[in-house]
Amino acid sequence: METQLRALQQEALDALEQTTDSASLELFRVSYLGRKGGRLTAILRQLGSAAPEDRPRLGQLANEIKADIERLFDERLQLFGSGTDSSRPQPVDLSLPGRYLPFGSLHPITQVMGEICAIFEGLGFAVAEGPDVESDYYNFEALNIPQHHPARDMHDTFYVTDSILLRTHTSPMQARIMEKQDPPLRYISPGKVYRCDSDITHTPMFHQVEGFLVDRDVSFADLKGVLTSFSQRMFQRDLALRFRPSFFPFTEPSAEVDIACVICNGKGCRVCKQTGWLEILGSGLIDPEVLTQVGYDPDIYSGFAFGMGVERIAMLKYGIDDIRLYYENDLRFLSQF
Ligand code: DAH
Repeated sequence: METQLRALQQEALDALEQTTDSASLELFRVSYLGRKGGRLTAILRQLGSAAPEDRPRLGQLANEIKADIERLFDERLQLFGSGTDSSRPQPVDLSLPGRYLPFGSLHPITQVMGEICAIFEGLGFAVAEGPDVESDYYNFEALNIPQHHPARDMHDTFYVTDSILLRTHTSPMQARIMEKQDPPLRYISPGKVYRCDSDITHTPMFHQVEGFLVDRDVSFADLKGVLTSFSQRMFQRDLALRFRPSFFPFTEPSAEVDIACVICNGKGCRVCKQTGWLEILGSGLIDPEVLTQVGYDPDIYSGFAFGMGVERIAMLKYGIDDIRLYYENDLRFLSQF
């Protein structure tokens, strides 16, 4: 038995030398050290049948040989790696629930702007966008606001050069479109506008939607009809509308339009400052001066125009009380819409 053991020791050490990777090492382990059918294991099992006086000596020898082989085996294992390194693909547990990607959503301003456009498109208006960087001419001059006109003061303009600026409203699109096309026209123009102003109801960049219609025999009644339809669809109820006389250089007559307060339904509350009314836009009949400037004959054509702030409409629709919330990128706020 002793010779058998020594032969096996030599053979095992030779075999171990021959292993080249973790796979061949595993084969070695199974054939020599494996619990079932391992050759060393098999000899150790025979120990019980050796003569009792030989058993202690043989047992000690067997254990030494086993420890020797295992030590060398461990060394090789270190060398090749255990064979379960993390670069190997791990088995997939198909019963686990999948991982969800968080859904993004449109910014509330983008959503409301889309809604406003959809309502006017339903009323036959086409959509046209214009440049954010605008000329003094389209932003002011063409809209009957000449140099030194006091109305310029209201705009808090960001100038790029003396004659180039960030548009302060979307109204320049009236002139740009009318200049290129003949009536009848029905357009809305959504986009960003800029004013040097910042507090709880103003941000330096905000959004407006401009709308206008030019044709023969357009009257204030047409304006009222279109805006009534719009506000009823936007706020999804039969709201009263109020036209308050106002002034804009590019419309005559001009009116600011209020809707019955959507919070208290006209009874008077904190949001409407107890008046029962909320201002939603500026409007009027296009000033003959503006029509003349683009080459239309004001004796043949007339039109109406209006402009609204998208942030304001969204604030009223969703009861938001601070305009800055739109631009702080707080997902707890933004993901509610
Ligand atoms: N452009 C105006 C502003 O930003 C809003 C406005 C008022 C637009 C009357 C219009 C209008 O088209 O008719 O304050």
